[in-house]
Amino acid sequence: MTQNKGFYITTPIYYVNDIPHIGHAYTTIAADILARYMKLKGKKVFFLTGTDEHGQKVEKAAIQRGKTPKEHADSMVENFKSLWKALNISNDAFIRTTDEEHKKVVREILQALHDKGEIEKRKYCGMYCTPCERFWTEKDLIDGKCPDCGREVECIEEENYFFLMSKYQNALIDYIEKNPDYILPETRKNEVLGFLKSKPLGDLCISRPRQRLEWGIPFPFDEDYTTYVWFDALLNYYSALKYLAPEDTKWWPPDHHLIGKDILTTHAVYWSTMLMALELPLPRNIFAHGWWTVEGRKMSKSLGNVVNPWEIIEKYGVDAFRYFLFREVSFGLDGDFSEEALVRRINNDLANDLGNLLNRFLAMNEKYMSGEVITRLSEAKSENPLDIEFVNSFINTINEIDNEILWNQFKLNLVLEKLWHAISLTNNYIAKTEPWKLVKEHKDRVKIILFNVWNALRLTSLFLMPFMPETAQKIWKALGLSGYEMENSTIKWEVTLGEIKTQKIDQLFPRLEIKKEEDKAKMEEAKSDELISIEDFMKIKLKVGKVLSAERIKGSKKLIRLIVDIGEERQIVAGIGEQYAPEELIGKSIVVLSNLKPAKLMGVESQGMLLAATGRDGKLSILTLDREVNAGAGIK
Ligand code: ME8
Ligand code: MG
Repeated sequence: MTQNKGFYITTPIYYVNDIPHIGHAYTTIAADILARYMKLKGKKVFFLTGTDEHGQKVEKAAIQRGKTPKEHADSMVENFKSLWKALNISNDAFIRTTDEEHKKVVREILQALHDKGEIEKRKYCGMYCTPCERFWTEKDLIDGKCPDCGREVECIEEENYFFLMSKYQNALIDYIEKNPDYILPETRKNEVLGFLKSKPLGDLCISRPRQRLEWGIPFPFDEDYTTYVWFDALLNYYSALKYLAPEDTKWWPPDHHLIGKDILTTHAVYWSTMLMALELPLPRNIFAHGWWTVEGRKMSKSLGNVVNPWEIIEKYGVDAFRYFLFREVSFGLDGDFSEEALVRRINNDLANDLGNLLNRFLAMNEKYMSGEVITRLSEAKSENPLDIEFVNSFINTINEIDNEILWNQFKLNLVLEKLWHAISLTNNYIAKTEPWKLVKEHKDRVKIILFNVWNALRLTSLFLMPFMPETAQKIWKALGLSGYEMENSTIKWEVTLGEIKTQKIDQLFPRLEIKKEEDKAKMEEAKSDELISIEDFMKIKLKVGKVLSAERIKGSKKLIRLIVDIGEERQIVAGIGEQYAPEELIGKSIVVLSNLKPAKLMGVESQGMLLAATGRDGKLSILTLDREVNAGAGIK
């Protein structure tokens, strides 16, 4: 990349004949993540998305709805715009191929290529697939049908204009081989090379007789023809810079064209050779990601399993959805969507690992430091090996994450994996240092520990920002940083700030209940009697429980709400708040009476009881296990 060139990233422009689904959301969010990361790094960014509005498919869909193609497009385009808004997409521009400026550029380019002798009129009999808007050669067809969608093709004979693509075959092979990052992932590059080397490349039919297809850009040098929709659509990446991008920056060539694997050939072959003919530099990278299926099946309207992003956002929130898409599968490979997997991610990664860390820190910092944080690194010097080890390993992890190669190759799940490693380092640091035990006698050390956790959370929120912008902002604010912009803060451990005051906030991601109707039915009524039989005792189900989270119930000194893993998750309300701080309970193995009838304490349901002994002074002491035993183990 040249020095003063801005970072230019694009998504496909989507057809307006369809309502956006999870697949469209996926590509657009991926581009958004990279755009946001580059902005965070202080780069000038131009992030483009938009809609593809010409062609037979759109014309047909409009006729079916009794509208003109433009009316149809005008209404459909709103579905995309409003979804991008709901998903917090930070695109800098939105191009529509019906924009007058775009149409003008397409006509100019057609004229220029015609003048250069790159376009020729020929008689042609083509196998045409209407749903795919593509001509195929006989050889491409599978059993005489469209190799992409398997539907019938029509043989169409007519005179048409051809872009002389075939002459660039060798130059393109050469270019792809010399630029290993041009087409990624590597499997896709090999696919394109295999295709290019296996047979002679044909020329590309880029016109449609006007009487057959009215809804397209008219040819500048022959008004009887309209432009093939792909030739028009691909040029959006170029035309947008003429009227939608800030002029103070050099944007060409694009840094990434992000696409799905379904449109790899049109980009890697058609678009690349078009640019060669125009003598324009080729994009730095075309990245073709994988395909989402739903619960193991292809998404389709007829199966009725199309995932509607609106529903997911409404049910689980934008950030959980954004996180899930990029954590669950390695970008590039195919992925399978299921709500169960999403809920698991929310409960484990977001509620437990991230949410609990933040709330635990905020509670301790408020209680021990009245919300104040060290703001000068020199005051956080520590000789303690636990502190030194934590800071070093955290910085190492952050350095691994802040590596542009990782981002530029869209190894986004790896970024998240490493970020969650950083989160677990921080959680372990709290567990090992046990600040609640130190606070009485070593308050200065606790101040340093809490600063380290604060700083770790600050860096965590910066790297979360591209993936989960709203959540990152909430954390940023809770850390007392609302006076500082994320974009302008350095991604380093070293930090100098004015006075900071942390602020407690609600759980970022409340745990989602996984309903188990049978459990309640199983619970039996408990009886009390002087002497009990062994049968009576057998009714008591005691289990080993591992405390996953703990927090005080507002307005009560005594009550603490625990989430305990007893082989399944249970919420237990316990009156131990005078003897225990919530932070010190997390991770403990305790004894739980699991078949107690649920009851409400201060409005919060308790699904069981933990066992504790009462000392002579009336103080409670929780029963714990003196050896590591799996959560859920029975006690007899
Ligand atoms: O092809 N999984 O538009 P389109 C993952 N207008 N990604 C998916 C997906 C799925 N199941 N379904 C769709 C067109 N996508 C042309 C593009 S560009 C100059 C012209 C995403 O509305 C993926 O990015 O059919 C795919 O490439 C794109 O939507 C196709 O969108
Ligand atoms: Mg498509």
